[in-house]
Amino acid sequence: PERGGHKSLTDVMEKALSIYRDCLEGASGEIARRYLIKRDLPKEWWSHFEIGWAPPAWDYLWRALSKAGIPAKAVIECGLVVEGSRGLYDRFRGRVIFPVRDVTGRLVGFGGRSLSGEGAKYINTPEGPLFHKGSCLYLLNLAKDAIRERGRAILVEGYMDAIRLHMAGFREAVASLGTALTEEQGKLLKRFTNSCYVCYDADSAGREASIRGMYILQALGLQVNIVSLPPDRDPDEFLQEKGSKAFEDLLKKSLPLPLYHIKIREDLLNDLNLRKKVVEELIEGLSRIDLPDLAPFIPQIAAKLGMPRHALEDELL
Ligand code: UTP
Ligand code: MN
Ligand code: MN
Ligand code: MN
Ligand code: MN
Repeated sequence: PERGGHKSLTDVMEKALSIYRDCLEGASGEIARRYLIKRDLPKEWWSHFEIGWAPPAWDYLWRALSKAGIPAKAVIECGLVVEGSRGLYDRFRGRVIFPVRDVTGRLVGFGGRSLSGEGAKYINTPEGPLFHKGSCLYLLNLAKDAIRERGRAILVEGYMDAIRLHMAGFREAVASLGTALTEEQGKLLKRFTNSCYVCYDADSAGREASIRGMYILQALGLQVNIVSLPPDRDPDEFLQEKGSKAFEDLLKKSLPLPLYHIKIREDLLNDLNLRKKVVEELIEGLSRIDLPDLAPFIPQIAAKLGMPRHALEDELL
């Protein structure tokens, strides 16, 4: 509790979470329960991931919180409620709720998945005093011990990807909440491991984000491997279709950063009009890696770029 016995913003968030979790069990939660079960996220896991349901009503949460004596100001600061011209209304409506805790377990935000197909598929708590999306890694509080023990982290995009990996026993998985990995998120990971497997969606957004993200991680001193899923799949879908043994095989077949960067640009390298630009991009990226770390890959890179080894080494210095 903060000054004057007022509840802290974190207490307000916890109260909201408990309301959302009750709603998942209640009458309005029927549609969400059916959705989760159909998605193979069975009841037994709901409490582990503290999943909730925000009913579709305009102000269900706001009414419940104000009945509990919580002032509008605090609820607005938490990003739970929005001020409209006709009064206050809930930000999350008709959405499955995923709580986001920081590394110490403090509740800092929510993600909400729409079931109706209306509006954005996912919305998050807006940036505010508690929530900074760029400094959170979803499920890190549950993953940090496994990351330390196993000597690696697995980085995915989405809520459901991280959840599915944990369910399959990969408790070292965390999600960057979209594709825009930040240096702050990288530093957070670096506190627990020197090795990160990046497993973003196998679509063009995911591939480009892998390249951006992997250089952020490697600049922080992490060993980076990139996992390639079949076209247009994400980790959640892959695990559901193929299971954890197949995912472990994908991890084994993952490529270290330099080889991944070249592989992803291979088609462009073979295009005479684009070749020069792509070689420049690759050299620019690879020159950020210390030469000793790059040494094992030099022969392969030289061959792919059609350059003599020593010419390549000169370029990379
Ligand atoms: P995706 O767009 O890959 O989600 O976004 P998805 O795999 O289709 O979603 P499901 O599996 O059907 O539920 C991956 C992650 O990016 C963030 C969310 O964290 C999401 O989990 N995201 C995505 C947003 O924040 N907003 C969006 O509108 C979409
Ligand atoms: Mn702040
Ligand atoms: Mn995607
Ligand atoms: Mn996805
Ligand atoms: Mn998905």
